[in-house]
Amino acid sequence: MVLKRILFFVVVGLASAATTYTLRTAIAADSPAPSAADLAMKPTDYITKVPKGQIKNPYKESQADIVAQGEHLFLSYGCNGCHGGGGGGGMCPPLTNDVWVYDGDDDTIFRLVTLGSDALQAQGYTRKGRENVVGPMPPFGQIVKSTDDLFKIFAFVRSKYSASADQAYKYGTPDNLK
Ligand code: HEC
Repeated sequence: MVLKRILFFVVVGLASAATTYTLRTAIAADSPAPSAADLAMKPTDYITKVPKGQIKNPYKESQADIVAQGEHLFLSYGCNGCHGGGGGGGMCPPLTNDVWVYDGDDDTIFRLVTLGSDALQAQGYTRKGRENVVGPMPPFGQIVKSTDDLFKIFAFVRSKYSASADQAYKYGTPDNLK
């Protein structure tokens, strides 16, 4: 009897472990779009909720209204003070070229701007690309009001990607070159 009960728990345990595994792989393959609650939360909370590598901007640079809002936010949060009004660089690195300091995918730039360079490096990220300016990006995860605002800012940044830069690097280093 006791043995049977133990066996039952083992089987149930295995089954649920298998389901969790399948769920995880499904999420990794296709990260779910952020919910309204996700978009309303602070970027600092969002990066702890979403597993590394799975943040995906729901907005596209082809959405003119979103890009316009993103530009307004980029200026109002003072990103332009360092990166220039069009993101092309000023006293800090350009956001519009094919050199990415850590990488240029949605997940990496979201975490960099949220945490700042120092906290990002504390999580094991290292500088790969080198721009003319090497310095720390300050943490904006508590300053930017919501995840939604930050995604809109990045839609604007993507829209400014230079036509003369290597287009293959627009959203980060292509997988086959990593
Ligand atoms: C005080 C100056 C400063 C401000 C303000 C600032 N940044 Fe930065 N940013 C930097 C520096 C310096 C780096 C390079 C970080 C490094 O080398 O670790 C950087 C890097 C970046 C990168 C990566 C660029 C690349 O080529 O890989 C992005 C994207 C970025 N910042 C976006 C933003 C956004 C969006 C804002 C506004 C919310 C912002 N920054 C505000 C200084 C600043």
